[in-house]
Amino acid sequence: MEKKITIAIDGFSSTGKSTVAKGLAKKLGYVYVDTGAMYRAVTLYMMRKLFVTETNFNKESIIRHLPFVSLRFKYNEEKGFAEIYLNNENVEKEIRYLEVSQQVSKVSTISEVRKMLVKQQQEMGKEKGVVMDGRDIGTVVFPNAELKLFMTASTEKRAQRRYDELVERGDEVEFEDVLKNVKDRDYMDSTRDDSPLIKADDAIEIDNSDMNLEEQFDKILKIVNDKIEAV
Ligand code: DC
Repeated sequence: MEKKITIAIDGFSSTGKSTVAKGLAKKLGYVYVDTGAMYRAVTLYMMRKLFVTETNFNKESIIRHLPFVSLRFKYNEEKGFAEIYLNNENVEKEIRYLEVSQQVSKVSTISEVRKMLVKQQQEMGKEKGVVMDGRDIGTVVFPNAELKLFMTASTEKRAQRRYDELVERGDEVEFEDVLKNVKDRDYMDSTRDDSPLIKADDAIEIDNSDMNLEEQFDKILKIVNDKIEAV
């Protein structure tokens, strides 16, 4: 039987990490874990409970409320991937709103939040046969992952992709606000003290600014298959 590996995919926001990760999981019969969804769900809880905004942000009360956050993923047959549940409520759609995107990077700087989520992620991936995407998967969550990918693309391309996605869903957003959010998150995610977004030394960098989805997927699938053969 083919050996199962751990695939860690990190990179900036809107680089298409989750599209690649979902595709790989489907193709290989692996479990896909979207760790960004976990940080987003914690943020959503705090926004609802504590009315967290840019100006109303109390780290200590967020930490105090963490024990009331319960997260789980449940596979949706129709969609072909696992959706996130916050205290038994499917919040897959709500966590993608721009309002949540605007608060999530700040909530993600809190070490206690990271500690709780990293522990859950390590538990979910302990059997291998997992594709996990995020910011610190290859550096902190699974530093021994057999394969690490680091995805990048130009800021404008990423903002355009995210904008198109939100508009397609019917959200009313301005391109400038989406671009600002992408830039703000890049800055916050890569400069925070705890587990900043950095490329692991042994990660393979993929710049997909000028690749279409198919080209990108073919390239990555080849890297994955070569790795599975080599282990
Ligand atoms: O992948 P995403 O854009 O849905 O992630 C949302 C935010 O969550 C991102 O801006 C930073 C945070 N995050 C993180 O700090 N660590 C991870 N492993 C995944 C996401």
